[in-house]
Amino acid sequence: MRTSSPNPKRSLPVALLLFLAFAAVAYTPPPLYRRNTNLQQASTCKECHLAITEQWERSPHARAERTQNLLFGRMYFQSLKATRGATMLNCGPCHETTLFVNQDFFFTRDISHEGVTCVFCHMVSAPGPSTGIPPYELDLEHYYGSVRNSIPTTSHQSGYSTYLRTSEYCGACHSYANQNGVKISETYAEWKRSKYAKQGVTCQSCHMPGAPGRISYLGPARPKVPDHSFSAELAEKARPGAAATVALRAVRNRANDSLVVSAVVTNTGWGHSLPTGNDQNMAIIRLRVLTEAGAIVWESDPFADWNNSVFGVTLADELGSWPAETWAATRVLQNRRIKAGGSATARYRVPVGDQKGPYRVEAQLLFRRARPNTLETYGLSEETYGAERVLAEASIRVP
Ligand code: HEC
Ligand code: HEC
Ligand code: HEC
Ligand code: HEC
Ligand code: HEC
Repeated sequence: MRTSSPNPKRSLPVALLLFLAFAAVAYTPPPLYRRNTNLQQASTCKECHLAITEQWERSPHARAERTQNLLFGRMYFQSLKATRGATMLNCGPCHETTLFVNQDFFFTRDISHEGVTCVFCHMVSAPGPSTGIPPYELDLEHYYGSVRNSIPTTSHQSGYSTYLRTSEYCGACHSYANQNGVKISETYAEWKRSKYAKQGVTCQSCHMPGAPGRISYLGPARPKVPDHSFSAELAEKARPGAAATVALRAVRNRANDSLVVSAVVTNTGWGHSLPTGNDQNMAIIRLRVLTEAGAIVWESDPFADWNNSVFGVTLADELGSWPAETWAATRVLQNRRIKAGGSATARYRVPVGDQKGPYRVEAQLLFRRARPNTLETYGLSEETYGAERVLAEASIRVP
């Protein structure tokens, strides 16, 4: 991140920003260095950009900071202690975006609780130096958008930037390495290698669709009001057809005491790997075999069958233990994310004993945002952080 502004008093060299960031971990920075930049909160924008603000309020972006997203918050806190503050710059700036602009490291301002907020995303004028986290050039005087001829308003100056329409813009935050240089998220690179990049289907095409309307009640009708809710449903519906599928095959073995089942998962509509992003994200298969009357004969346990039923990335730490924490990892042990357009197969040998057929085999592909051991480590609720959301289902009958 680098800030630039026509008024020299309002610009701060990167080196000083870095120094302040580290200093804040160890001791209270001298008030002299505090910036008095008064960034506008989302509630200000709401007056004139009502629909967009209401969508953003519901979005994961609005909850990315430590007090609202406890998965991030507790992990971040633990990592700061364990690395003596090294993760402050390596983790903080994308989740708590305004802190590093107005130096409010003690959360004295309400805007500090807004996570990935309006002003941060819209002060981005261009890509910045590749070493920046995130690598942006910020211009505090304008709010940039993709409307070339926006009408003037007394509330703010507007700027036109084609950058906001690109995948590179989202990719600047949606790819990251930890302080050990281990690539944690590669969403942008996964997209770049996919057919979508070649077809010009950007992150925004799937995640920020929009209908004609007004971007502000004060302005004219415009061809597209981009949706800011960043929900899973929105992305799933953005293109025709299912975004992910699971297909089952089952046969009896020779001895007739087991079923040999395969579940083929295909990433049909995610614009990147399935799952993508943080290493906690995973897709799992839960399989069960039932009698025709509905009695359960057998159920899989995905976490006892990690290399088969769990799709995602596994990190290892210095001692080789896995799965390692996002911030403790020193290498990627295994990458089982399913590429855009690709498939992967999970295989099962299901003992049915002398249970007579016919059977019904059911499989669910589920999305989970955190591993069971992570919930334990950080004392997170199973309900919120361990919930499993259905991405696809299949069921077949075995005579
Ligand atoms: C300033 C950094 C930043 C920028 C820019 C940004 N994001 Fe995000 N995004 C985040 C963070 C941090 C989260 C995680 C929020 C959470 O779950 O706590 C997130 C979450 C998301 C999610 C939800 C993920 C989930 O697990 O449900 C989607 C989808 C998303 N972003 C898409 C985009 C797209 C598309 C763009 C570009 C238009 C974009 N983001 C730009 C930082 C950013
Ligand atoms: C994660 C970054 C991000 C956040 C947070 C965000 N926006 Fe946006 N916003 C964008 C992007 C990207 C576009 C352009 C999308 C396009 O044109 O496809 C956009 C478009 C807009 C537009 C229409 C102008 C245009 O470029 O089409 C307005 C107005 C706007 N945003 C206001 C807001 C307000 C108000 C908030 C907070 C309540 C907000 N945005 C939060 C990224 C963001
Ligand atoms: C007093 C009303 C008002 C407030 C408050 C306001 N805006 Fe705007 N904004 C407008 C109007 C009017 C436009 C132009 C609409 C048009 O031309 O269609 C606009 C345009 C924009 C654009 C598009 C710029 C471009 O050229 O693409 C962005 C981005 C934007 N506003 C962001 C914000 C953000 C972020 C906030 C809060 C921090 C905010 N606005 C607060 C009235 C307002
Ligand atoms: C072809 C459409 C498409 C494109 C292009 C696309 N996505 Fe997605 N994305 C999806 C779908 C579908 C999902 C799954 C929604 C769900 O969770 O069910 C998804 C999920 C996500 C998630 C949350 C998934 C997780 O595992 O936590 C993030 C974050 C995300 N996308 C970011 C991006 C970014 C950044 C880009 C651009 C580099 C991008 N997407 C491009 C369709 C797309
Ligand atoms: C360049 C920006 C960036 C950096 C740096 C960054 N993150 Fe994130 N983080 C994101 C984005 C974007 C998401 C949401 C999409 C995804 O899952 O990758 C996210 C998601 C997460 C999640 C999952 C949140 C949830 O509720 O599902 C955790 C946990 C997390 N990050 C922890 C960390 C830690 C720890 C670090 C430091 C090692 C870190 N992040 C560094 C951008 C960043």
